[in-house]
Amino acid sequence: MNNDNASANKPKEKSLLQLMDEVAVGVKDPGQLGEHTHADIEEQIFSKLQRIGLQAIDRQHEMLVRHLCNLYKVMIGIRSRAPNKEEAALLQVTLEGLQDYTVKHFQDEESYMAYIGFPEVDGHIKIHQDFIEKFLTIKKAIQARDLAGVDELFFLVYRWLFDHINRDDAKIAQFYNPN
Ligand SMILES: [Fe+2]
Ligand SMILES: [Fe+2]
Repeated sequence: MNNDNASANKPKEKSLLQLMDEVAVGVKDPGQLGEHTHADIEEQIFSKLQRIGLQAIDRQHEMLVRHLCNLYKVMIGIRSRAPNKEEAALLQVTLEGLQDYTVKHFQDEESYMAYIGFPEVDGHIKIHQDFIEKFLTIKKAIQARDLAGVDELFFLVYRWLFDHINRDDAKIAQFYNPN
């Protein structure tokens, strides 16, 4: 018997990020993420964050990711059961914190785009508005005790944050500093 063959046939373990990406596009059950610790998730999420090269915006993106990690922490705690009073209050505070910081970040980024004369500012603002709209819809569902919405909201923000930063926000930095 050949041991090399045996190890070659063994299915490769998926990285946490692969798993999260699959969950974010609806391929896998988010429940699998619960096996990972919060520190794992935080490290993995931060490793995925691309710095666009504008310090003030990059700092805010890091803060946004911290808010996202807080939401993950709360989400894992209440995944399989109804939250107690304290957890429900924590969820509410976490959602408000994420929302407030996102709105603040969007306002600052929009002012910055206007200040440097970024030509695609209107389209970018529209993307921000669409996101807030989706966020508020899911938040309402969560407040109506639809706890599946907590996962949905986490993955909306997770997926959106990285796609938007890497694709759209990066264009602001390219415009400001084309070299
Ligand atoms: Fe943006
Ligand atoms: Fe941004």
